[in-house]
Amino acid sequence: MSDVCEILAEVKVVPVIAIDSIEDAIPLADALLDGGIPAAEITFRTAAAADVINLLSKERPQLYVGAGTVLSPENAKRAYECGAKFAVAPGCNPTVISAAQKIGLPFAPGVMTPSDIEMATSMGLTFLKFFPAGAAGGVPMLKNISAPYKHLGVKFMPTGGVTIDNVQEYLAVPEIIAAGGTWLAKQDMIANGEWDKITENCKAVIKLLG
Ligand code: 3PG
Repeated sequence: MSDVCEILAEVKVVPVIAIDSIEDAIPLADALLDGGIPAAEITFRTAAAADVINLLSKERPQLYVGAGTVLSPENAKRAYECGAKFAVAPGCNPTVISAAQKIGLPFAPGVMTPSDIEMATSMGLTFLKFFPAGAAGGVPMLKNISAPYKHLGVKFMPTGGVTIDNVQEYLAVPEIIAAGGTWLAKQDMIANGEWDKITENCKAVIKLLG
């Protein structure tokens, strides 16, 4: 497995973050770390995302920070320059994959069909985001769709519909190395400064996963 896969396999659960204000970056990171979750996917859905990645890479190096919703070569370049350790996207876009590969940014494109998986594997990628996991059929769908590609060593991080109620089911699948979700630290929880709640959510899933 790649370094990124090994690290995320240890982390198991990756909070998918939409953060509006740079002021909230450090309290958020500390809330996640206090809750026992040492990773985060900071999505490029807000204007603050790149600055947040940059700040956290410098000030909280113990948090393994990746970029999410990386939709363009520009997003990939910015994420890399800001110190993102990995990047993910909802879709499988060869232009973005090529850009990430060119700059050496580990990238997991989003897949939900065999054709998506083949697009990614034909470009040398085996770490893939399964999105939208729940709506696409959840664990049965992932098991079915990954079967023809297991021998290629494909690994998945499902996101979309993953919650504390079903995360164990996802993580029980050998091809799934980690699962992501917004439930741990939702955009409004961050905006409202609900740091204790975020820490509690992290602790709850850590306890559940033992
Ligand atoms: C993602 O960006 O990966 C998903 O939107 C997360 O979906 P969730 O809100 O269902 O966790």
